[in-house]
Amino acid sequence: MEQVVLSGIKPTGQLQLGNYIGALRNFAKYQDDNQVFVFIADLHALTLPIDPQVLYNNTRDIVAFYLACGLDPNKATIFLQSDVPAHSELGTILGNYAYMGEMNRMTQFKEKASKLNDKSIGLGLYTYPVLMAADILLYNAKTVPVGEDQKQHVELCRNLAERFNHRYKQDVFTIPTPVINKTGARIMSLSDPTKKMSKSDPKGDILLKDDLKAVRKKIMSAVTDLECEVRYDKENKPGISNLLTIYSCLKDITIEEAEKEFIGCNYGTFKKAVADVVCATLEELQAKYNQVIESGIIDEVLQKGAEKASKIANETVKRVKKVIGLYTK
Ligand code: AMP
Ligand code: TRP
Repeated sequence: MEQVVLSGIKPTGQLQLGNYIGALRNFAKYQDDNQVFVFIADLHALTLPIDPQVLYNNTRDIVAFYLACGLDPNKATIFLQSDVPAHSELGTILGNYAYMGEMNRMTQFKEKASKLNDKSIGLGLYTYPVLMAADILLYNAKTVPVGEDQKQHVELCRNLAERFNHRYKQDVFTIPTPVINKTGARIMSLSDPTKKMSKSDPKGDILLKDDLKAVRKKIMSAVTDLECEVRYDKENKPGISNLLTIYSCLKDITIEEAEKEFIGCNYGTFKKAVADVVCATLEELQAKYNQVIESGIIDEVLQKGAEKASKIANETVKRVKKVIGLYTK
């Protein structure tokens, strides 16, 4: 059955392998049989200070990678969050239905805020999950493919939608479900495999645009353990387990199958195989990315996407306004 599928990525840095495995590469597979909305969460990128030129460049880069990963603008709606003012409008409305207690429990906020001085924690960082709920509810999305770290935010969105529907005794919002891959939903840093790979971790991450030689070097020097057995054991062997996850995801095989391939192999041989598959994936992706950049179609894609997205988003806002008693024609 055709469903509305929606996801987004915030342009806070250069895309890394975790974004690709946990999110990006999963989007295109939905586009033939579903109504797919994929956007760049640029308003979300403002939650921490960011240089305007960097934000602009990152934004265009993500669009190019969306296309490089096979998203087809004739099938999926690809757009910028800030091009559709309905996101801000519904975000403002929904803020009144979210409770401080539940916002205080958001782990991503707590994590990010703990790294800042108390006096410089922006309000936007705190209210971020409410805007994310608006992103999802505007399009009546049922399926939200994301990495593990976004599960709590989608659950908050579900709670807000249910609370709202209950309050007004009608099904105003569709209740979304986060879709999280069993494997690869949390790719870890290569330099510290107990931490998530993130866009702001130059030593431990693999950027999609990285030079392939540098990628190979990072993988060959990834932190492992003192044993000599390629076995999945997240607790005791986080480094090897992470490399096995990366390998199996990119090869489209199970962890068990990957383990079997490396029985009796030393870590050097295993790492080389991981590097080979990562480099082959990135080489193809980078070639497609370059083609997209050269084709100059990004502006056109975004304009068309914003028009399509606005139509649906504006209808939702209108419906919501009516339900809550805001005067609307
Ligand atoms: P972000 O970089 O936080 O905007 O994340 C964009 C998407 O990539 C979200 O669906 C995240 O859950 C996913 N993602 C980010 N980092 C990782 C990671 N290390 N492993 C798997 N998925 C990730
Ligand atoms: N918060 C997500 C992230 O940091 C990005 C995002 C914003 C998103 N709005 C969304 C993802 C709606 C899925 C659906 O990765």
